[in-house]
Amino acid sequence: MTQHHFPESFVWGSATAAYQIEGAVTEDGRGPSIWDTYSHTPGRTLNGDTGDVAADHYHRWAEDLGHITDLGLSAYRFSIAWPRVQPGGSGRFNQAGIDFYSRLVDGLLERGVRPVATMYHWDLPQELEDAGGWAARETALRFQEYAAGIVGALGDRVHTWTTLNEPWCSAYLGYASGVHAPGRTEPAAALAAVHHLNLAHGLAGRVVRELAPTAELSVTLNLHVIRPASDSEADRDAVRRIDALANRAFLGPMLDGEYPADLLADTASVTDWSFVREGDEKLIAVPLDVLGVNYYSSTLVRAWDGVSPRSDADGHGASTSTPWVAADNVDFLPQPGPYTAMGWNIDPPALTELLLRLRREYPSQPMMITENGAAFDDVVSADGRIHDDRRIDYLRRHIGAMADARAQGADVRGYFVWSLLDNFEWGYGYDRRFGIIRVDYDTQVRTWKDSAHWYQRLAATGELDQTPD
Ligand code: FCB
Repeated sequence: MTQHHFPESFVWGSATAAYQIEGAVTEDGRGPSIWDTYSHTPGRTLNGDTGDVAADHYHRWAEDLGHITDLGLSAYRFSIAWPRVQPGGSGRFNQAGIDFYSRLVDGLLERGVRPVATMYHWDLPQELEDAGGWAARETALRFQEYAAGIVGALGDRVHTWTTLNEPWCSAYLGYASGVHAPGRTEPAAALAAVHHLNLAHGLAGRVVRELAPTAELSVTLNLHVIRPASDSEADRDAVRRIDALANRAFLGPMLDGEYPADLLADTASVTDWSFVREGDEKLIAVPLDVLGVNYYSSTLVRAWDGVSPRSDADGHGASTSTPWVAADNVDFLPQPGPYTAMGWNIDPPALTELLLRLRREYPSQPMMITENGAAFDDVVSADGRIHDDRRIDYLRRHIGAMADARAQGADVRGYFVWSLLDNFEWGYGYDRRFGIIRVDYDTQVRTWKDSAHWYQRLAATGELDQTPD
């Protein structure tokens, strides 16, 4: 067993998202979002679960801040529900909603915990979807207005502003495969959504720069580590194509100031990208203080040979429509285990690889891991404890993988475990538990799992015992 020591300055945090924990969806003037509509549509979520009550965090936020303090964390990543602070997505702001986040932010600051606020973790006001959603350019302009409202109210009390969480999911799962809200299956709309999310990021980023000049600016991407099934040219080209859709469609405009040429060429049969206007790409490339990276598992692809049975084991849910626009010749292969309860393969070295790639391509860009964690079928033992050894093992290996990347020069400054609490896991409802703290959904009682105790020790000491792979 090797030992890794993290410096005092390294940030240990936990992450959540509004719709997954808050509940109280009709309280104090909150308007409906696409996730309310989607989860209330029969057949969309496992067991018909919705976020109506979730972990009741809207009422229990003070207790939850207590857990963050007791864990000894130095940062908390949460998201602001757009429909809570601006119910219709344009025009009038809702003071009661702003007050909720203002209390939360002040509560964190009083406890010495850095607020890391995500502006958009997938809960688009329904009115904006009715007007075209992310496929419409107007939505990016509305996002700029929303950003000005919340940054104006919370300003630099928020330590780090994150514009978007995983725009890959918003665009492709929301508009191409339809396994996320709003559940559309329109490939051209998905690519338009990619661009309008990027544009929203650039516009909101500039709002942060202007209204909260001392706050840090970030975005969170779920970057894919894509491996070829063989070294053949065709398989390597499959990797290139998926890398363009998954990674470079966002990294390109955000960090290089332009869309990659191969992405535009690959998708020419679906769209001519005429929704990208003169000057947009430069606008999107607002410099970031820190790039947020979410990582859970890796991806294995091969070029389809035209005869083998198709394989779509990409880990992104079952749908008859693919999220991979214009990539019909690519197969996603099942990976060797072990797996989490999401069916995702456990591949810590891929995290090291990802961070080193980012260091190579963007050497001066600081990073943080804004999500990493695992769902397992937790069991409450007779002693009332949850001995979630597999989750501890997952966390230990991934934090070790991050440490390996740091040792090789990757500038990773923080780590946020997903998640603080068990919560509404989107299409999988309450069936999949990611928390280091268990939530009993009948009573809303919170119970620390063994992983919470383990994480508390790590945050306190900075000492990680690495098990050899
Ligand atoms: C990410 C999401 C987060 C959570 C985890 C498991 O894609 O950002 O909300 O659902 O996956």
